[in-house]
Amino acid sequence: MAKPAERSPSVTVTTTSWTEQARAGHADTWKMIGNLDVDWDEFDSEAYFDHNYGMLRPDDRQIIGIVTSFFDDCRRRYPDTWLRHAIDVGAGANLYPALAMLPFTSEITLFERASSNCSWLDQQLRKPNDSWWQFWSEMALDRDAYGKINDPLDLLSRRAHVTKGNLFRLEPGRYDMGTMFFVAESITTREDEFQRAVGKFVGSLRRHAPFAAAFMKNSSGYRVGNVNFPACSVEEDDIVRALAGVARDVTITTVDSKDLRDGYGGMIVATGRKMV
Ligand SMILES: C[S@@+](CC[C@H](N)C(=O)[O-])C[C@H]1O[C@@H](n2cnc3c(N)ncnc32)[C@H](O)[C@@H]1O
Repeated sequence: MAKPAERSPSVTVTTTSWTEQARAGHADTWKMIGNLDVDWDEFDSEAYFDHNYGMLRPDDRQIIGIVTSFFDDCRRRYPDTWLRHAIDVGAGANLYPALAMLPFTSEITLFERASSNCSWLDQQLRKPNDSWWQFWSEMALDRDAYGKINDPLDLLSRRAHVTKGNLFRLEPGRYDMGTMFFVAESITTREDEFQRAVGKFVGSLRRHAPFAAAFMKNSSGYRVGNVNFPACSVEEDDIVRALAGVARDVTITTVDSKDLRDGYGGMIVATGRKMV
């Protein structure tokens, strides 16, 4: 586990949440911030979307290539397997993991804890932002399963629904395929919670279900709108460890990325299948 960026160890979070401390200007004082310490309803969906997904960046283009090739390849290898119900865990203000699963599944749960993001997702399903077409065009490039779909955003609005919930309470063994992008390492500073989040995500899938997960590498936390959010600084080895024992056929790929913000060292994508 790489060390988080340097922070002063002086402040203890007791009665006020991480978010309240952040607003009061104390958020860059460091302690172990657990997922429950954060007021996720303070997540500014629009600011997050504008910064991250207002246009397609080269890092997401590379991630799309990895993830869609993986799902497409799963379909080729197991042509008779129809993946009925998919889940995107911690969907936030991002529709592209769900779009990546769209050709292979008839139902997609966008699972999210923050009320702000749930409302935003509901609204986007009804009236999607134009930028999603840039993401879709990349997916449809040379991939028949995607290219065959004429109106992906309309299809997504019919197949996807938003569910508010806590990933630590996901029902085990329920979903046929899954994605979890920039969540396990971006919802806590605690390594045990990072490991548990990965385990709960993969655990929510059925036996041999394909999945893709993306991670910020060596993240020291991030700011959305006016609020700071915590992160657990992870590298490739930490992800391998988190997936050991729960996943098979795992491939880890490092994605070059440096211009999104300060305080991270690239992105990491893991693909694989639930073990048992
Ligand atoms: C950094 S954002 C990632 C959003 C999106 N998946 C993406 O690719 O950009 C982390 C997301 O995890 C959500 N989250 C935080 N704690 C959660 C929990 N316990 N269960 C489910 N979602 C959670 C946050 O509300 C936020 O939407």
